[in-house]
Order: sequence, then structure tokens, then C-alpha cells
Amino acid sequence: MDEGLDRPVSKELVPLRGAWKFVAPYKKQVVFASIALVVTATVTLSIGQGMRLVIDHGFGDGSSTVLVQSIGVFALLVVLLTLGTFARFYFVSWVGERVSADLRRAVFSHLLHLHPGYFEANQPTEIQSRITTDTTLLQTVIGSSVSIALRNVLMFTGGLVLLFVTNAKLSLLVVACVPLVVVPVILFGRRVRRLSRSSQDRLADVGSYAGEALRQIKIVQSFNHQGEDDRAFRERVDLAFKVAIRRIRQRSYLVAIVMLLVLSAIASMLWVGGQDVLAGSISPGELAAFIFYAFIVAGSVGAISEVYSDLQRAAGATERLLELLGAENLLEEPVSPRMPGQPLTLAVRDVVFAYPTRPGERVLDGVSFVVDPGEMVAIVGPSGAGKSTLLDLLQRFYDPLSGSIELGGVDLREIRKENIRGLLGFVPQDPVLFAGSLRDNLLYGRPQASEVELTQSLKLAHALEFIGALPDGLDTVVGEGGVGLSGGQRQRLAIARALLVQPKVLLLDEATSALDAQSEDHIRQSLAELKGERTVLVVAHRLSTVRQADRILVLSEGKLLAGGTHEQLVATNELYARFVRIQFIDQSSDNGEVVQRRLSNSPVAR
Ligand SMILES: Nc1ncnc2c1ncn2[C@@H]1O[C@H](COP(=O)(O)OP(=O)(O)OP(=O)(O)O)[C@@H](O)[C@H]1O
Ligand SMILES: [Mg+2]
Repeated sequence: MDEGLDRPVSKELVPLRGAWKFVAPYKKQVVFASIALVVTATVTLSIGQGMRLVIDHGFGDGSSTVLVQSIGVFALLVVLLTLGTFARFYFVSWVGERVSADLRRAVFSHLLHLHPGYFEANQPTEIQSRITTDTTLLQTVIGSSVSIALRNVLMFTGGLVLLFVTNAKLSLLVVACVPLVVVPVILFGRRVRRLSRSSQDRLADVGSYAGEALRQIKIVQSFNHQGEDDRAFRERVDLAFKVAIRRIRQRSYLVAIVMLLVLSAIASMLWVGGQDVLAGSISPGELAAFIFYAFIVAGSVGAISEVYSDLQRAAGATERLLELLGAENLLEEPVSPRMPGQPLTLAVRDVVFAYPTRPGERVLDGVSFVVDPGEMVAIVGPSGAGKSTLLDLLQRFYDPLSGSIELGGVDLREIRKENIRGLLGFVPQDPVLFAGSLRDNLLYGRPQASEVELTQSLKLAHALEFIGALPDGLDTVVGEGGVGLSGGQRQRLAIARALLVQPKVLLLDEATSALDAQSEDHIRQSLAELKGERTVLVVAHRLSTVRQADRILVLSEGKLLAGGTHEQLVATNELYARFVRIQFIDQSSDNGEVVQRRLSNSPVAR
């Protein structure tokens, strides 16, 4: 951040130019606001001339008519000022609110389409806090600071011109003081900007820490972690406070120094001007008007210096928002997209993959296989083998480092992501649901599905029964992440949700792991019904599911060790044979045949 010190001042506000793109659509409001700004500034400035007239002619000539006229004009000016102020405040705030709302929307919409890997390197909770705090900062700045700055620039220029008109000699004195004020503004302003960015970062930390702890409250309490969280949170809050105070201190210095300089300058002008009035070379009205303008000029310099640091804070916030907005999508859409051909064969060719966060570790290492349409293929393998990763790649959440994945003879990179995913139905390993009703969750992928289709997929997923038992049925509301349902219920809903999309290819990642043997059996039968109709790729641990597949792939440490039917693999693949032996024991215990388990346990263990 130190390079900021060498940057010329004009460059420090450069990020704000990026925000202009968001202001530009509202030129009409900006024009209204500008007119109001000019009107109010002009009215305020003309008050000085009025003062001069009243003092020199109203009082000086002892005539009451001039006084009455002057008061009349003054009243008119007040009305104008009131209307102008209303319009200025309304339109400027309107633009501020509108721009920050648009920016929020633009950032969110950009992030929604970004490659999932982005959120491994950048914490979603921190991004969430940026979308709220940074845009809010921008909103206040555009909605008030910019208007204050513009108004005061106008007042400064107008005031300065009128100063010279009123008295050139005294004005030179004022102009000589300007650099004295500007230098500290620049010096302190830079520090404020740097501290401001770090202050917003700390604030984002606070937000994301609280979010994570509260979302996982059961784990927090189960491990008696509240004390630790309390301490860690307090640390973050304190750090945010310290950084904020450092920023505020710089700003206070700035405001105080500017005030001191301005008031000293005015005092010396009073002294010089007072001498002139005594000597009779200028009128008292002239001096009064002069001091009025001097106050306006000085006041506007002070106001600008104050909001200048706000503008710098806004520049910091804008920079970060534009960073989010400019985050490059590593999964570009194809320039000339193609549709997958027929038949809809799924072909994985020599795929090598490592996660971007761990580039050295090959999670998939030369994996090749082909799945014909309507085929049911099971993938088995130890934990960490790369099974879930493979399903991610099939949906193009990542691109392979080398090799290719083809759907209907077309490389996934040549198909629009929307079209790839439109053909796939996915049941994740951790069945995620969203806050809302069960119906909302089920219709997630296809809101226009009919009631009949809904019932059908619930039946296939063996979920009708438990939903029927809920007092509100499909209108039962669940919390964020599906709070309020059992793991197995969530799993069945996730299956129904995927089936409702009527996908050509169904990807199931251990979709039945949390189910009791009976529910699992029902789903297995449903899958059997789908066989031939849809391609099914199922990551499975249960022998019953695996046996039902047309073909089984054995994956271990990123390598495809073998493929074939159950009988072939039992005979030829040691890893698979061992998997089957262990499963046999598990299944026995599922059926409550404890004795058999014990009996079979001993020879296998040896
Ligand atoms: N987002 C990620 N970033 C970096 N490494 C990852 C990421 N996700 C998974 N891995 C690593 O990739 C490897 C394969 O993980 P994967 O989730 O595909 O395994 P899996 O076969 O599905 O295992 P399980 O049966 O336990 O679900 C593991 O070593 C894991 O640590
Ligand atoms: Mg997995």
C-alpha cells in the first residue's frame, strides 16, 4: 500500500472514476441535482452583496425604504434557498442510493456466474460483508460527501471571485493562505485513505467471524468453544476499533489544523481590513461583505478538506468492489458454443486434475472411461480417491489440467455451462437445502414443474411418506441449510429435486449414505426403474447399490484401477474384493444378524 505515497493526488481518487459508470445512467437526476447545487450556491453568495447594500445604504443613508426592500429580497432568497436545498438533498441522496443498489446487484450477479474455485481462495462470508459495508460507504459518500464537495467547490470559486470584486488587495492575502491549507489536506488525506481500506477489511473480518460461528452454533457449543470464540471475536472487534481510531485521529488533526489556519487568516484580514475602514479607504459594508466571503471561502476549503478524506475512503471501497466486479471467470463460456450431439455419451479422456489451491497434488491422474446413454455406472473407492472431484469436473465446476470431458461428442468447454447443467441432475454428498418451504426447495431447478411431476419425483425419492406426516406438508418451512429436517430426509429431498429436473444424466454422490436400509432399498428400486431411460452415475459405498449397476469403476488415489461388472471385479480386483468383503459384514449388521457378523468378522479380519 506504500506505493500510494508516491502517487500524485489526482490518481488517488481514480477508482471513483470506475463508479462513474454506475452514475452515468442517471444523468437526469445528476442534472437536477447540479442545477439545485448552482442555485443554492448562487443564492448563498448573493447574500453577501445584500449585506453590503443594507449596511452601506440602509443604515448609512438612514433610509427605511431600502431596508424594507432589502428584507423583501432577502425573504425571496430564503425561499429559493429552501427549494434549492430540498431538491439538492433529494436528488443527490437518490443517486447515492440508486448507485449503491446497482453496484450491489452488479457485484452479486458477477459473483453468481464466477467459477466455484474463486470462493476457495476468497472467503464467501468476507465477500458478503464487502457487498454490504463497502456499498453502504459508497452510498453515504455519493449521497452526501460528493454533494458537499461540489457545493463547496462552487462556493469556493464564487466566493473567491466576489472577494476580488469586493477588494483585490485583501483578496491577495486570502489567496496567499490557500496553499497553507491545501498541503495538510493532501498529507493527511493519504494516510486516511490507507487506514480506511484497512479499516473496512477489519470490519469485514468481524462480520465473517460472527457469521460462521452463528451458523455452526451447535458445533461451537458442543465443543465448549464459546470462550475461545468470544476472545477471538473481541480481538477482531478491537482491531477494527484501533484501525478506525487511527483513521479518526488523522482526520481530527486535519480538521483542527485547517480550522486554526483559516481562523488565523481571517483574524489577520480583519486587522488589515479594519485599518482600511479606519483610514476611510473602504466602507464598513465592504468589509462586512468581504468577511462574509472570506468565511465562505475558508468554510468551503474546510468542508472540502473534510470530505476529501471521505472521498478517499470511498475510493478505497470502490477499488475493492471493482476488484470483485473485475474478478476473472476462469471458466469462460465458449466463443461459438455448440450443443451436445446424439447419442448423449459421456466420455472422460485421460483427465488430469489438481485443485488450484494445491497445484502439486494430482487429485485425478489420467482417468478415462465412457458411459453410454441409459447406462448405470457406480464409482467406488476409498475416501479422498477423487470421486466427488470427478463429479465436479463432469459439471464443469473446474476444467481438467489436461485431457478432456465430452458430452454427446462435444468437449464441455465448447458447450455453454447452462446447457451442460441443464442436462445433468446432481445430488451432492452433503444435501444442501435453502431456507424456505419444501416446495420451494423441490422446485429449485425447475419452478414450472407440475404438481403431478412433483409427486412423481417425491415418490421415486421415497419422500412422500415423511412429507405427508409433516403438519404443513410441502409448505413446511426449513431453515438455512435445511435446518429442521433429518439427514436422511434432506437426502431424499435432494434426490427428488434432482429428479424433478428430468435430467438426461443423473449424478449421485453417495446419495443414500444417511438412509436406513429400507428407504435405501426403495430408492434403489426407483433407480432401477430409471435404468435405460437416463444415464446414472452413482458414487456408492453400499454393495446393494453397487451391485445393481451395469458397470463399476474402481477409483483410488486419482487413478482408475479397474472397471467391469461385480462378478468380474470380485475375481480380478483386490481393492474391490476387499470392499465387498467388508460390505458383506456391514449388511449383515443392517439386517440385525449380529451373530453372522461376529462369525464372518473373524476370518475377514485376519
Ligand atoms: N476444494 C478443494 N481444494 C483442494 N483440495 C481438495 C478440494 N476438495 C477436495 N480436495 C482434495 O482432493 C482429494 C479428493 O477429494 P474428493 O472429495 O474428490 O474425494 P472423495 O473420493 O469424494 O472422498 P469421500 O469418499 O471422502 O467423499 C482429497 O485429497 C481432498 O483433500
Ligand atoms: Mg466425496
